[in-house]
Amino acid sequence: MKLFVTGGAGFIGSCFVRTALAEGWAKQVVNFDKLTYAGNLENVAPIAGHAGYRFIQADICDAQAVEKALREEAPDAVVHFAAESHVDRSIHSPAPVIQTNFNGTFTLLEAARRLNIARFVHVSTDEVYGSIEEPHDADENYPLRASSPYSASKAGSDLLALSYHTTYKMNVCVTRASNNYGPYQFPEKLIPLMISNALEDKPLPVYGDGQQVRDWLYVEDHCRAIRAVLQKGRAGNVYNVGGNCSLPNLEVVQRILKATGKPTSLITRVTDRPGHDRRYALTNSKLTGETGWAPQMDFTRGLQATVDWYVQHKAWVEHIKSGEYRRFYELNYSQRVS
Ligand code: NAD
Ligand code: TYD
Repeated sequence: MKLFVTGGAGFIGSCFVRTALAEGWAKQVVNFDKLTYAGNLENVAPIAGHAGYRFIQADICDAQAVEKALREEAPDAVVHFAAESHVDRSIHSPAPVIQTNFNGTFTLLEAARRLNIARFVHVSTDEVYGSIEEPHDADENYPLRASSPYSASKAGSDLLALSYHTTYKMNVCVTRASNNYGPYQFPEKLIPLMISNALEDKPLPVYGDGQQVRDWLYVEDHCRAIRAVLQKGRAGNVYNVGGNCSLPNLEVVQRILKATGKPTSLITRVTDRPGHDRRYALTNSKLTGETGWAPQMDFTRGLQATVDWYVQHKAWVEHIKSGEYRRFYELNYSQRVS
């Protein structure tokens, strides 16, 4: 199978590219990535020399570049990860988020339709459902109530992708996963930010009361789910992907402090995120019932593996923190503590 992966230099996309080639179920992978602040070729260094791997640096909003690459490569499937993926950045600067997540998905769908690409998996998020009241868990028919520009852009792109199935009979599936964690995650998201700050004895900024609940999914479990949908998902369908691990943020932060051996005095309460969703919770039963997929990583083990990875990859973190990362982190942090 030959895959055309967008965003394969990011956190989840790079895990997907690495594992697909290492496991051998994909013979060829084309990684189409713009290399924004979140894209990093070090994430794909382990497979950079693989005979079946090709990297193209380009923007999914560039219709000519997308069409040229898809025409030349003629893949069996597109797996679409590329996105502006951070909620806080989407609140500060929504324009690039709407441009990439909505218009970029449109550009990709259009090219895939014109070139009759056999399969298209659009990678999305549980955030499209918005905050979910207890005791409910969202299934795939739950209403879309996105709260942030990020989640609204993903909800819009989900609907657009599904419309290409309804209207043009394109073979499209949408996956909606919960919060991912694991190695190579850009340290602007909760878990890697708290680990890297703890390792440097810096404050751990907990938004609001820290009782917001997220479901945690190990990145390799997510990538196995995408493979399952790619190979077995029914065209025109949405599949939730959850980790069966709902935890309040404060508890996650406390567990990180324990795993890193750092004191709870590092926890710093800061101003809450505007429009902050209180709770995400998903049911996986459709994906499990149709494909047999289930999350395998237990959170305690997954968190320890993640902490160990960040301890062993200080140079990777330092490289990121010396770049664009610092500007946004300092802006976001200073606005919240003032
Ligand atoms: P990431 O921010 O780590 O990586 C995004 C990648 O996309 C980067 O390599 C970046 O260079 C590339 N990119 C951004 N804009 C581009 C453009 N215009 N053209 C080409 N490439 C571009 O993101 P991630 O956390 O790996 O998320 C990947 C996908 O999974 C996203 O679609 C996101 O919405 C979805 N998702 C993420 C999570 C999570 O917890 N991180 C959970 C559910 C779903
Ligand atoms: P994040 O990793 O940004 O993912 P998302 O907003 O997509 O769920 O945030 C996860 C949770 O952690 C969310 O409730 C916001 C909270 N959070 C903090 O409390 N402090 C932080 O510094 C960050 C980045 C997030």
